[in-house]
Amino acid sequence: MIIIGIESTAHTFGIGIVKDGKILANTHRSYTTEKGGIIPLEAAKHHNQIKDDVYIESLKQSKIKESEIDAIAFSQGPGLAPCLLEGMRFAKELSAKLKVPLVPVNHCVAHLEIGKITGTRNPVMLYVSGANTQIIAYESGKYRIFGETLDIGVGNFIDNFARYAGIGFPGGAEIEKLARKSEKYIELPYKVKGMDIALSGILTNLRQKIESKKYSLNELAYSMQETVFAMLVETAERALAHTGKKELLLGGGVGCNKKLQEMCKIMCNERGAKFFCPENSLLVDNGAMIAFLGEIMFEKGIKFSHKELDKIDIKPRQRTDNVDVLWKN
Ligand code: ATP
Ligand code: FE2
Repeated sequence: MIIIGIESTAHTFGIGIVKDGKILANTHRSYTTEKGGIIPLEAAKHHNQIKDDVYIESLKQSKIKESEIDAIAFSQGPGLAPCLLEGMRFAKELSAKLKVPLVPVNHCVAHLEIGKITGTRNPVMLYVSGANTQIIAYESGKYRIFGETLDIGVGNFIDNFARYAGIGFPGGAEIEKLARKSEKYIELPYKVKGMDIALSGILTNLRQKIESKKYSLNELAYSMQETVFAMLVETAERALAHTGKKELLLGGGVGCNKKLQEMCKIMCNERGAKFFCPENSLLVDNGAMIAFLGEIMFEKGIKFSHKELDKIDIKPRQRTDNVDVLWKN
């Protein structure tokens, strides 16, 4: 079967095409800024303008014809409402036009399920993206959240830090580059509570340090990564110990960071666990992961006919542990 996946929870409008678990296409365009953060309505406008191009590109990449599509999956939530609406509208139009079923997919669970492509079977997942920072593992019918950020997501935290430093959105990759230029550690607050972390106090501290002009940006970027990634790795290790699982999977855009990957690998080696990390194009928001999970759900009968589209709506605040994982077992 051939399924297309539409991703539009935040800055990225992506379309992926999957055939029997194999990714045939994964295309996207992202909303970025030179300065300042994401404006939801602007991002939604961006998605509306480029959606047809991304779709045509995905068909080209996959070498399939529109008429071969058997189902449409889309990101139902969580995310920014105006952006989610653009994706859902596009998905519904396509479903009605092609007369094929629609599969609403949880974005966070899709980040997790696509990780299976690396060969991991029963991992603890460190899910680090813009809005979300969670330590998730499957236990009796649901993906349970063992730990999470108590305030802001680590990607948003890094993007805010970058914004204070005059860097545009998203700032993660640029901060990683700057961090590589320093090895001078400047003390920052370290906030771990059991398997949860808190980031807003560190952000305030970093902002004050930038404003004081006493430190170079390279030093601050380096120290931020050392501190915050150590917090993430510490909580992930605690979750491995608590659940007795032997595999760690990284997911979400911040997972592209080589330093974080290296620290996860070291921790796993030290405790005899195995580390798994998909390629960057599957770590960031992407349509392929939506199609991938959509296909699994479709095959278990979780789908809506093109005649019942008005039963489906976006779920901007849907939580990972509220999703019934009916497709497993
Ligand atoms: P979600 O909706 O899942 O919460 P998201 O929509 O923000 O996430 P992702 O594409 O998963 O999207 O992640 C984007 C985040 O990843 C941004 O905050 C960006 O700064 C960060 N990021 C990307 N590359 C790097 C990197 N090399 N180092 C650190 N952070 C990075
Ligand atoms: Fe995401």
